[in-house]
Amino acid sequence: MPRLTVALIFGGRSTEHEISIISAKSIAANISTEGYKVIPVYITREGQWLCDGIARKILGLDLSALLRSSSPEAMADTLRDMVKLAAQKPFDLDFKALGIDVAFLTLHGTYGEDGRIQGFLDTCSIPYTGCGVLASALTMDKALTKLCVADAGLAVAPSITLLSADYLADPENTLALIQRQFKYPFFVKPANLGSSIGISKVHHGDQLPAALQSACSLDTKVLVETAIKGREIEVAVLGNEHPVVSVCGEIEPGSDFYDYQDKYIHNTAKLFIPARIPVQLQEEVRGAALTAYKALGCRGMSRIDFFVDEQTGTIILNEVNTIPGFTDISMYPMLMAASGIPFPELAERLLQFALETIQP
Ligand SMILES: Nc1ncnc2c1ncn2[C@@H]1O[C@H](COP(=O)(O)OP(=O)(O)O)[C@@H](O)[C@H]1O
Ligand SMILES: [Mg+2]
Repeated sequence: MPRLTVALIFGGRSTEHEISIISAKSIAANISTEGYKVIPVYITREGQWLCDGIARKILGLDLSALLRSSSPEAMADTLRDMVKLAAQKPFDLDFKALGIDVAFLTLHGTYGEDGRIQGFLDTCSIPYTGCGVLASALTMDKALTKLCVADAGLAVAPSITLLSADYLADPENTLALIQRQFKYPFFVKPANLGSSIGISKVHHGDQLPAALQSACSLDTKVLVETAIKGREIEVAVLGNEHPVVSVCGEIEPGSDFYDYQDKYIHNTAKLFIPARIPVQLQEEVRGAALTAYKALGCRGMSRIDFFVDEQTGTIILNEVNTIPGFTDISMYPMLMAASGIPFPELAERLLQFALETIQP
């Protein structure tokens, strides 16, 4: 069998740009060099596509260390300096000339996980890993995800959705509405972001305007959501028509909630695989993950995140990530490894599931 050529696409225009580079580095290390030739494709924060040379150099950086030792601004400067050396073409990539057979997408967040690049690749007839346009777009929006899975019978945290423009036009009215409807503490979060960016846990009324301001400045739509007291349980799902569901993992946040610092900088959160809940409850969470995966029309993969209410034991779906973190210490590959699918096999299966979806 001749080797297939994989475009490993990373970086991108989202706030999770750096995390995407770290994920891509792990993927590159786990794709079989016997079966595939990998061409790194780096999308800058500004949307410039750079293939091979500079992309390969960026993939070689130790961004995890840089993220811990310096500021996000310094890291962005390092990347920008490297890009300056590259050709200034907006799209330095020729799918045909490079003979690209399949794309491995490691773009997190907007413009990567939300259906846009999936639609672009569909129009180019390039198969890609993970979910298609609709499931990607739907799960990017936390409010729509909740609507859809609630319709399939799953529990979700009570919430309201606000349009940022409405809040900014009449803050007093919105503040009064929220204060009438929610007990402290509650969460304010942008509908379409990830990595906990722009999310606040609001404990007192005086924290509410800043929380809304922050979320509204990042997204056109914002959720205000009841805080769930309980365990955070995550499940990895892999496959197309007959997906496999991993064991349950648990995250114990190192701070007030699982925020950006906790996720990527301080590494204070504790991960437990399997989750510290009874076996019967683990089975129910796995069943709920499969229900959500099917209801949302996922394919390839998704990580499905839940809360289990500490008092009632109710399983509450929080969110769905169609391109979850992919570093060696990320939950998705760890859950799959614990379920008998080590990282190199996971990369291989994702590519095979992508190739299965080629449209005539
Ligand atoms: N309704 C909620 N109740 C309790 N904790 C929450 C709630 N919503 C979010 N959190 C906390 O905030 C973290 C990030 O929120 P999440 O909705 O998962 O957004 P992101 O897409 O940024 O990961 C969660 O992992 C959890 O610790
Ligand atoms: Mg989350």
